[in-house]
Amino acid sequence: MSNLCDIGVDPRCWYPACRSDELGPEQAREVRFLGRSFVVFRDVHGAVHCLDNACAHRRVALHEGEVRDCRIVCPYHGWEYGPDGALARIPYWEEEAPLPRLRVRSFPVVERSGLVWFVPEPADPLPPQPPDTSQWDGGEWFSFRQDRVFPNHYGVGLVNGMDYTHFHLHRKYQPWSRLRLRDLESDERRVFGAYEVTSGQSRAERTLRMLLGSDRDASTVTYPLEVYYDYPHHHARLGDGMVVWAFFRPESRDRVAVYITLYIKARRGTRRLRQFAEPFFRRLVLARIQEQDAWIGVREQIAWETRPDEPRCELNPVAAAAERLLRSRWQSYVEEAGPPGDRWPGVRLAHGAAR
Ligand code: FES
Ligand SMILES: [Fe+2]
Repeated sequence: MSNLCDIGVDPRCWYPACRSDELGPEQAREVRFLGRSFVVFRDVHGAVHCLDNACAHRRVALHEGEVRDCRIVCPYHGWEYGPDGALARIPYWEEEAPLPRLRVRSFPVVERSGLVWFVPEPADPLPPQPPDTSQWDGGEWFSFRQDRVFPNHYGVGLVNGMDYTHFHLHRKYQPWSRLRLRDLESDERRVFGAYEVTSGQSRAERTLRMLLGSDRDASTVTYPLEVYYDYPHHHARLGDGMVVWAFFRPESRDRVAVYITLYIKARRGTRRLRQFAEPFFRRLVLARIQEQDAWIGVREQIAWETRPDEPRCELNPVAAAAERLLRSRWQSYVEEAGPPGDRWPGVRLAHGAAR
């Protein structure tokens, strides 16, 4: 299977469904994963639940119904389901007999790091808890989000995030001008790459140096840059002052939702400067870099789909290791759980065609 876009992700891991603050009490949202539809809803007490997004009656999607107290109500005939997916009420049921014993499938769900997480294919035991980013929340760190749905395959986005040699693409905005790879470790769970980047005097580079509180008089400043692929998610650290987390939810073979948070350490005496520099950095540097990544992601998607079997010559060992891990985890899943078949149609189908 040489086409990267034919690779799925192991559904037995935790994936982000939405931000916690995007799901208020008695609200529901649709969540797509590899071509299947799930519904997450928050009950009146604040607890979150996740069900297969298909009513047991006529398979209508539940997320467009309403959440009433602790139940989700189908918009069509009003069948009500409890948090565990069991049918709890049919509004027109007048039989003496009890309700039919029907249920829709429920999935493990947890709130952590400001996100709602779910496991699309629960296995026993469940995977360890999703990543905890609370050490960067508040205190001396400030943060901003850059969530986005990218119209490309998960693997294209993931490898992009691990591969810092593509700074040619971002040459106008990239806050460093030199990069070296110092170390690489990988096993069946993670890839770790240690780069070193050097910032000079361009506008973006000076902004980064200001945010990181570096010596302003030096002509260049060098920072360690560590990148991690903790399957299936990604994070990176720049020096001791910047951290980025990217949590992925592949929706189909050409669409991936990415929940990105950037943390920057606040430094004493730089609050004013920071207040000035942060919006500039976000709008004129980070947003444009992200725009370019979205743009190139579509181009790489086309390259995979139209030339799937032609050789690729990846010279960055970090990118190569990330792609190997992505492929080997999918291979292991298929060997253990069987071919994805209709369970995960989004492995085969583009977003427009996904059910
Ligand atoms: S389709 Fe859901 S209640 Fe009829
Ligand atoms: Fe990029």
